[in-house]
Amino acid sequence: MTQYDIDVLTPERVDWIDREFAAGFYAKRAGYFSACLAAQLRGELVLLLARDDEALLGYLKVVWEPDYPPFRAQGIPEVQDLNVVTSARRRGVASRLMDRAEHLIATRNPVAGIGVGLHPGYGAAQRMYVLRGYVPDALPITYHDEPVTEYQAVILDDDLVLHLTKQLR
Ligand SMILES: CC(C)(COP(=O)(O)OP(=O)(O)OC[C@H]1O[C@@H](n2cnc3c(N)ncnc32)[C@H](O)[C@@H]1OP(=O)(O)O)[C@@H](O)C(=O)NCCC(=O)NCCS
Repeated sequence: MTQYDIDVLTPERVDWIDREFAAGFYAKRAGYFSACLAAQLRGELVLLLARDDEALLGYLKVVWEPDYPPFRAQGIPEVQDLNVVTSARRRGVASRLMDRAEHLIATRNPVAGIGVGLHPGYGAAQRMYVLRGYVPDALPITYHDEPVTEYQAVILDDDLVLHLTKQLR
């Protein structure tokens, strides 16, 4: 599976990615990918997808002005929502998507940002980001986008997030 394409989302592929992602991993909320396309058309993000002919392998978004205040304040674009379908994992798909995302980000900013969950389900992503050179931003982890303070009790779910950055150039 070394030969596959990385494309930017187009209107023709919205229903396709919706179906393929639901079949390969889990169903996103209705309208998720059409909302991504609309945001892309407004210039807010770029959704990159990896596909082997008509089979979706994975995707991510590059968000130019992310909600995380420290990234937004420093003009650091953020890679969000990286997902590889279960059957295509551990074959370098995420790495290729990240290569493309970082290349794209480097055209606008020397630093890329990413947020990774602390939930055990994100262990593979945590490891991959560190191996790619992402380091913690030295700011408090966030829960539901709010900084977590010492001794604060939080639930270990998808919303407990550590942010990392990588110097691209
Ligand atoms: C994390 C994820 C995107 C990785 O996708 P992938 O295409 O399998 O990743 P790659 O094949 O490019 O792997 C790159 C490196 O990451 C690390 N890695 C990937 N999966 C791993 C795993 N299950 N366990 C340990 N390390 C792993 C390895 O170092 C790997 O390099 P190697 O295979 O040469 O050892 C995928 O597992 C996924 O979609 N997970 C669920 C969603 C998620 O966590 N998204 C990230 C949100 S922040």
